[in-house]
Amino acid sequence: MSLGRVLVTGATGHLGANLVRRLLADGEEVRVMLRAGRDNGALAGLDVERVHADLRDEDAVAAAVKGCARVYHCAALVSTIQGNAAHKRQVFDTNVRGTIHVLRSAARHGVDKVVVSGSLSATGYEPDLASHEEMPFYPFERHLPYGFTKHLTEHEALRAHAGGLNVVVATSCAIVGPHDYVPSRLGRVLIDYAHGRLRAYIPGGFEFVSGRDIAEGHVLAMRHGRSGQKYIFSTAYASVDELMALYRQVTGRPLPRFRLPPPLMAAFAELTDKTWYRVFPNRPRRFTPAAVRLLQMRRRANHDKARRELGYRPTGLLSAVEEAYEDFLRRGVIRPTN
Ligand SMILES: NC(=O)c1ccc[n+]([C@@H]2O[C@H](COP(=O)([O-])OP(=O)(O)OC[C@H]3O[C@@H](n4cnc5c(N)ncnc54)[C@H](OP(=O)(O)O)[C@@H]3O)[C@@H](O)[C@H]2O)c1
Repeated sequence: MSLGRVLVTGATGHLGANLVRRLLADGEEVRVMLRAGRDNGALAGLDVERVHADLRDEDAVAAAVKGCARVYHCAALVSTIQGNAAHKRQVFDTNVRGTIHVLRSAARHGVDKVVVSGSLSATGYEPDLASHEEMPFYPFERHLPYGFTKHLTEHEALRAHAGGLNVVVATSCAIVGPHDYVPSRLGRVLIDYAHGRLRAYIPGGFEFVSGRDIAEGHVLAMRHGRSGQKYIFSTAYASVDELMALYRQVTGRPLPRFRLPPPLMAAFAELTDKTWYRVFPNRPRRFTPAAVRLLQMRRRANHDKARRELGYRPTGLLSAVEEAYEDFLRRGVIRPTN
């Protein structure tokens, strides 16, 4: 029995491209919401209905939502920089106002259920404790504008739930896996590693989720998630040393020559930060103070709630790196080693 058409926003992104393929494999009728003129090839050859809308345009979003029974709202402006005032406004309008537009349209057009993609950056953190759904976001930490907006996104989902909409938050950790067309920050690290261009790294650690697992998590959240609840989906924690070892195993390339001392890099990143952004206000770079800080936090995530309530069973990080590498090779983004 068909459950009706499903809308995916952010379908050209890393998460969305994995989710759309998973939904099509399940036999779903999929509509994707795209920005006009920004086709990056992520959906080439897929049997999906394409509708153009920018999240900041409420009427266009409403037209994309109309006629769909379920909505996966994955689109967001993922940003790893402080940026200038205009950039902050763009992140806010896309992530917070854009989510309001999706949720309001869903309520207006009688959508059965919405899954909103969340981020671990919007979940509470305590040293030496794996973050879980009940930990409150601590606003006085040094968050990036993106992290604040993802926190506000959850707030908007809760508001919509209070207003009677069936809405669940599916929280992602750092995604590793195939169909990374943008490519993501982590994807770029793998590409550089495979080409022997990653000469240095900073030790630390983070919680990762495979493309396969985060797509599965979204589907489970849609099927079984309780409205107004948030579920964290992760695959495994890995230190940067462990991640580099996986990259070496998968690519056959040697480890980067330099393992940089975190305190020195933190001081260097802080020192160069102001000058960099004065010259290049919105250009991303690898060793930002936020990136160095995040790796030193060694954030872990607890996915017990998803396991218990949704039957979530994560796969593994090695297969995620293998799939990411093979997909980059297949598309010619990574050149094979001789
Ligand atoms: N990747 C991660 O490690 C990670 C970790 C935690 C949480 N998340 C969350 O997971 C979700 C998906 O992230 P991702 O990694 O897939 O991001 P991504 O690869 O950067 O893709 C972002 C998607 O959002 C779309 N988008 C951006 N601005 C838009 C706008 N104004 N109107 C319409 N669409 C817009 C992009 O479309 P265009 O092609 O037009 O740019 C793209 O499809 C986000 O909610 C993010 O916060 C991701």
